[in-house]
Amino acid sequence: MIKAQRGTKDIFGEESFLWQHILSNAQTVFQNAGFGEIKTPIFEATELFARGVGDSTDIVNKEMYTFSIGGADKSASSITLRPENTAGVVRAYIEHNISRQSPPQKFWYFGPMFRYERPQAGRQRQFNQVGVEMFGVEKASADAEVILSAVEFLKSLGLDNLSVELNSLGCKKCKNDYRENIKKVLAPYIADMCDDCKMRYEKNPLRILDCKNEDCQKILEKDEIKEIILKDYICEDCKTHFDELIEYLDELNIKYSINKLLVRGLDYYNRTVFEIKSEKLGSQSAVCGGGRYDGLVEMLGGPSTPAIGFAMGVERLCALIDNLEAPKLDYFIVSNNTKEAIKLASKLRNENKKVEFDYQSRKFAKQLEKASKSAKYAIILGEDEIEKGFYSVKNLENGEQKTISNFDDLI
Ligand code: HAM
Repeated sequence: MIKAQRGTKDIFGEESFLWQHILSNAQTVFQNAGFGEIKTPIFEATELFARGVGDSTDIVNKEMYTFSIGGADKSASSITLRPENTAGVVRAYIEHNISRQSPPQKFWYFGPMFRYERPQAGRQRQFNQVGVEMFGVEKASADAEVILSAVEFLKSLGLDNLSVELNSLGCKKCKNDYRENIKKVLAPYIADMCDDCKMRYEKNPLRILDCKNEDCQKILEKDEIKEIILKDYICEDCKTHFDELIEYLDELNIKYSINKLLVRGLDYYNRTVFEIKSEKLGSQSAVCGGGRYDGLVEMLGGPSTPAIGFAMGVERLCALIDNLEAPKLDYFIVSNNTKEAIKLASKLRNENKKVEFDYQSRKFAKQLEKASKSAKYAIILGEDEIEKGFYSVKNLENGEQKTISNFDDLI
């Protein structure tokens, strides 16, 4: 038997109702807040992610599904299944000159992403993200709008008890100073850290702060290192920006905590970064991750454009929401005349009713049993009903039965 690939999942039955619910809430909440939908391709040039997400990140180094296509007669090109969607949205933003429209330009998306990670609860190789990206506004009002949209969306799904973790990574200049200080204080210990951290030390020392390796964690707990990590290092402008965001969040009654170890696993971030977590998710606790990426559009060849966004893992959302019951049918047609039954089903479906009938003319008792499990009403279409042109309708919740003389009354 051929099985699904490790780290992938089939979605059907009750879970598919949950998915539809999540998608329809995303559409409502994000579109109410002025985000338009964007769908970008599932594969892109490998270079987009190498440059956009950053070649010192785990995603680019270890987790990409990359293929070489083209043979001797074509120049081979390297494509990658998207591991995330911010780089693709930025590519589309530049390619279609969207910056020419008056800012802000706001997008939301929903779709599959691919990362070759070790599968475990909450971590898949094909997973789905729902997210937003907002371009053109440097002010903290944009950060507040994006975080508010995440919180409102979670609230619409009944998840109103999650706390937002926040940090500011500062701008290029303060990030550089911080990076140098971290390198200096870690220099005597780097030989004892894991191989990944040795590489990060050279390429992206801030990523050492969220290394999960126990030996590295112990080193990070040392007082002289903690002191540097926890120091306020961001410049006055970045501090004002962060303080303004906090004023907005207080005004909006959004719960948050500041986590100075929050650095995020992608290279494009500056200033605000945030995650929304739930203990219910175990070790993969982040349901949402996002932040500002003011340099990315320019870095990928577009005009200098401030931007901020987030993405949530749909499978992790599903794990947090109690399963929804499949919505019941409006009618189940109980009949031994399948031709009349299918005709009536079609007429009712054209009136936007959910209808099923029995395809095999089974005994009425069997059909009624099926009806009471799946529908609100049974329409009984026996010989008498067909001959005289009326309907017997049974309310399957209270057992009441009525005779209805024509189709309009039935509706
Ligand atoms: P990320 O933190 O890599 O950020 O992913 C966002 C969310 O996707 C995570 O919080 C998690 O819920 C879900 N996720 C990530 N990897 C997996 C996986 N292997 N299995 C299941 N769920 C997963 C980004 O992707 C950024 N593009 C977010 C962003 C948008 N920043 C700015 N704009």
